[in-house]
Amino acid sequence: MTDLLSIILAAGKGTRMKSDKIKVLHPVAGKAIIKHVLNTLDGLNSKIVNVIGHQKEEVQSELEDLDKWDLNYVVQAKQLGTGHAVQQAESYIKNHEGAVLILYGDTPLLRKETIADFVKEHQQNNSDLTVMTALIDDPDGYGRIVKDEDDNLTAIVEEKDADLETKKIKEINSGVNCIDSELLRDFLKNMDNNNSQAEYYLTDIIEFAVSKNKKINTYTVQDSDEIIGINTRKQQAKAEKILRNRIIAKHLNNGVTIIDPDTTFIDSEVEIEQDVTIYPFNYLEGKTKVAKNTIINPNCKLKDAVIGENVEILSNTIIKESTVGAGTNVGPFAYLRPGSKVADNCKIGDFVELKKTTVKSGAKVPHLCYAGDAEIGERTNIGAGTIFANYDGENKFKTKVGKDAFIGSDSILVAPLKIGNGAKTAAGSVVTKDVNAGDTVMGVPAKIYKSKKQEG
Ligand code: UD1
Ligand code: CA
Repeated sequence: MTDLLSIILAAGKGTRMKSDKIKVLHPVAGKAIIKHVLNTLDGLNSKIVNVIGHQKEEVQSELEDLDKWDLNYVVQAKQLGTGHAVQQAESYIKNHEGAVLILYGDTPLLRKETIADFVKEHQQNNSDLTVMTALIDDPDGYGRIVKDEDDNLTAIVEEKDADLETKKIKEINSGVNCIDSELLRDFLKNMDNNNSQAEYYLTDIIEFAVSKNKKINTYTVQDSDEIIGINTRKQQAKAEKILRNRIIAKHLNNGVTIIDPDTTFIDSEVEIEQDVTIYPFNYLEGKTKVAKNTIINPNCKLKDAVIGENVEILSNTIIKESTVGAGTNVGPFAYLRPGSKVADNCKIGDFVELKKTTVKSGAKVPHLCYAGDAEIGERTNIGAGTIFANYDGENKFKTKVGKDAFIGSDSILVAPLKIGNGAKTAAGSVVTKDVNAGDTVMGVPAKIYKSKKQEG
């Protein structure tokens, strides 16, 4: 396989989405549309040029984590059509010999296997131009594939330029093209904007190639869903449904139990190990990972959460940007906010909110608690109703509770605060001063009730 140059068109605003955000940055199954498109190039070893325009900084920052790829950007300041967009990448096309793969940044359902097969076919056939097409029942809005009696592609006619007869054609242009660089260079020098939208259409390359007697092929995708282009919210919702079904099928295939696929929403980058059980009405989002044998009860939302093996997450729990160790139970009605780390074999019970809080192995926070900016040591028990008062109205402070400590019900721990290993607070204490290891404090404000030193 010769070297490949890929060009992704993503400069348009996407007016039909009626949004402040440009189209290609909208998500489908939790991932920006353009990122889905880029992922189809994974493994092709291609130099990639993104044509950007509207919200170009935002597009670049969205793609930042693909920095290992050969990603390049050119700016199309005014969006004068898909042909004009490709022309902005001229400095790359100029030096390239062989195939140029062109993708539109608004087609998130393409599979990378399909793209690889398409490129392979173009190269094996020694074609000058290969167009990916699909047969669909409702071709509304797409460019129509016009062929002669011998089934040779002769033109692509845009919906807005099509007569009634042409509009009846059900084979449509997907927007995926492989074009020999020489033909492309030649076309870009000669294209015009004589059409109803006064745009420079890339699709005019077909008639140009025909006039130059070039070798042209079409490649029809088996699964026509793959080529859905997102122009409207309705198409976005349709793509969302299709992609989610694919994701569910993948996890079922990998040995995950999903009780009701219709009410389970899993983003495309979520990883789930086998024998995990997911009850209905759950959302697994972002880069969430769930290890073996874990059970997720109804109505939970996990976003960028890392969940260990044999965990049980009870109903109505939210976990964001936090980790939960093996064998731990969380919920019902627990809220783990960003930066929380719960170790193995812990219990985080009902109506417990943790923020940036580390809970060490075997510790328990069984009911009704707020802990922010805190560390809770191994095997320590935090009584019901305990509040870690981390905020004085201006600043936030930390609290550290050692291992094997016992915090009595309804204690208020006023940060900054350190409570030593094995220390205790009596029920209802308001603890404002550090407590030494082994000591027991009581009252408001809490005073030493029993000191380990005095005992000794
Ligand atoms: C295009 C095709 C149509 C095809 C359909 C498939 C043309 C003329 N039409 O129509 O045949 O059936 O896609 O989905 O090519 N873009 C730019 N700069 C521009 C114009 C567009 O970067 O000046 C980008 C857009 O951001 C978008 C992509 O190119 O990601 C496609 O543009 P869009 O306006 O959505 O084209 P369609 O009308 O859908
Ligand atoms: Ca489109």
